[in-house]
Amino acid sequence: MSELVIDRLSKHFSGTRAVADVEVAIDDGELVCLLGPSGCGKSTVLRMIAGFERPTSGRILIDGEDVVALPPDRRPTGMVFQSHALWSHMTVFQNVAFGLKLRRLSRAAIREKVAGVLDLVGLTGFEARYPGQLSGGQQQRVAIARCVVLEPKILLMDEPFSALDAHLRVRLREEVRAIQRRLGLTTIFVTHDQEEALTLADRVVVMRSGTVEQIGSPSAIYAEPATRFVAGFIGTMNIIERQVTGGLAKLGDTRIAVDGPDGIYGFALRPEDLSLGGAWSGEVQRVLDLGAFRMLDVTVSSETIKVQVDKSVRILVGDEIGLDIHEVAAFDGEGRARPARVHGTIESGVRLHA
Ligand SMILES: Nc1ncnc2c1ncn2[C@@H]1O[C@H](COP(=O)(O)OP(=O)(O)O)[C@@H](O)[C@H]1O
Ligand SMILES: [Mg+2]
Repeated sequence: MSELVIDRLSKHFSGTRAVADVEVAIDDGELVCLLGPSGCGKSTVLRMIAGFERPTSGRILIDGEDVVALPPDRRPTGMVFQSHALWSHMTVFQNVAFGLKLRRLSRAAIREKVAGVLDLVGLTGFEARYPGQLSGGQQQRVAIARCVVLEPKILLMDEPFSALDAHLRVRLREEVRAIQRRLGLTTIFVTHDQEEALTLADRVVVMRSGTVEQIGSPSAIYAEPATRFVAGFIGTMNIIERQVTGGLAKLGDTRIAVDGPDGIYGFALRPEDLSLGGAWSGEVQRVLDLGAFRMLDVTVSSETIKVQVDKSVRILVGDEIGLDIHEVAAFDGEGRARPARVHGTIESGVRLHA
């Protein structure tokens, strides 16, 4: 059982607030992704957990014990970095065995553990190779093996695949997920790639400028963004600003009811939550074929938005179309989500959507 509690963790670097009051509780065996743009503090959080960086304030509890005062080698954590930094003059076996030798395990025990972990990452038979004789993906597998062989309670991965090509990243991601499940390893995986986070994580922590914006399952993060930032950062999202007066805003002829004070709101519409046949008219500027569906750029009320339609729908640039809004999210002046729903079109009177 290994739980990790990050309690009001902050880090300032001479004037820069890199991490501010981050709070996350991670369950035993859970895989959590820290997701956010470059510079938002993801690596700093990870490095504090591993012990490479000392927090300005806050606690890091592993199974109830605060590890902040412990040096990295006394913490039950293992870290895999973006650049694997294997020892180039050592074979795969020697790279993986290195940490076990430091722990003064017997030769037989080392052999057995290395064999087991190389099997786990699919590198049996590569023991005698040098890193220079391996592909980038294989090198990263060695880096994972070198970490996992030490049986950490908490596995920390900092953008481990960001230097690899897209196809390989997807495969390694699936392999890491399988290994993590098999070993039941509590894992924090840092990425700036939202697709990677959404496909890999049990829960996603979205960060922005050192703070946590939202913590939730991938589906909750996607479907119910808590802030305008999360809405814009995850997936493709159209965000249109409108005045809300008396709890109502207008998007073309569609009325949106908002539960919140009057003011300027950002209305967020997913391309797949818009369909053809409604009263919000616009002109098609661009048609992009994306295999299973088409993405349209449509100019409506002087803004250009993205609309997803089935690939069977025949549409040409210059066509006038009408849009129907199925789902909408509203964000107030502070960027916080407020309950909102499509209230009806102006011509057809009130047409409530459940
Ligand atoms: N050792 C350091 N000294 C000074 N500033 C740092 C140091 N490490 C990180 N920072 C700053 O802290 C912020 C967060 O960095 P980082 O955690 O690396 O972000 P991320 O991993 O999300 O890209 C950035 O503004 C970065 O410049
Ligand atoms: Mg980083």
